[in-house]
Amino acid sequence: MKAMLFAAAAATTLALAACGGGEPEKPAEPAPAADAAPATPEPVAVAAAPTGPAAMPEPTDIAAYMKARHENYEMLGKNMKVLQDNFQAETPDMAAATAAAVNVKAFADAMGAWFPAGTGPDSGIESEAKANIWTDRATFDAALTKLQTESGKLAAATDAAAFKAQFPATGGSCKNCHDTFREEKKDQ
Ligand code: HEC
Repeated sequence: MKAMLFAAAAATTLALAACGGGEPEKPAEPAPAADAAPATPEPVAVAAAPTGPAAMPEPTDIAAYMKARHENYEMLGKNMKVLQDNFQAETPDMAAATAAAVNVKAFADAMGAWFPAGTGPDSGIESEAKANIWTDRATFDAALTKLQTESGKLAAATDAAAFKAQFPATGGSCKNCHDTFREEKKDQ
C-alpha cells in the first residue's frame, strides 16, 4: 500500500510540475491519491507545502539562470494551485490559503529582478519569456505591481469571504502579465 500511495503522490507531483499549471481559469486536476486511500488510513506524510521563491543564481551561466527562473515559476504555480483549490472549497483552509498568498506576494516582490539582459529569446535558450519584457519594461513593471497589490490584499484576508472575494483579482493579475509577456510554447 505504501508503494501505491507513493506512486500516486509521485503522479500528482509530476502533474503539478508541468509548466503552465496553476492559473485560476484552468479546472483543478483530479486527485489520484484519493482512490488509493486505505480503509484504515495509515499515517501518511502530507505533501510538502509549496514554498516562496528560491534565491536566483548570478546570471553568469545563462542556461542555469533561466532554468532557475523556470523552477521558481513552477513553484509559484504550485502556490496558485493551493489558492485555487481553497477558492473552490466550500470551507477554505485559511491557514493554508494565507500561507500560499504570502508566498505569492513574495514571488511578486522577487520577480522584477529575474529578467536581466541576455535571458530572453536572444539567448537562444527555450523559454516563454517574450522579447517585449526588455523593450516595454514599464508595462511589465506595471503588471508586476498589479500582482504585488492584489496578492498583498489576498494575504491580508482574514476570513473565507474576504479570501474568496479577492482571489479572482489575484489570478487575473497573473493572466494580465502572461497575455502580453509570456508565450506559451508547451501543451497545457
Ligand atoms: C509581470 C509578469 C508576470 C506575472 C505578474 C506573472 N507571471 Fe508567470 N510568467 C511570466 C513570464 C515572463 C513567464 C515565462 C518565464 C520563462 O519562460 O522564463 C512566466 C511563466 C510562468 C509559468 C511557467 C513556468 C515556465 O517557465 O514555463 C507559470 C506556472 C507561471 N508563470 C505562473 C504564474 C502565476 C500563478 C502568476 C500569478 C500568481 C504569475 N505567473 C504571474 C510573467 C509573469
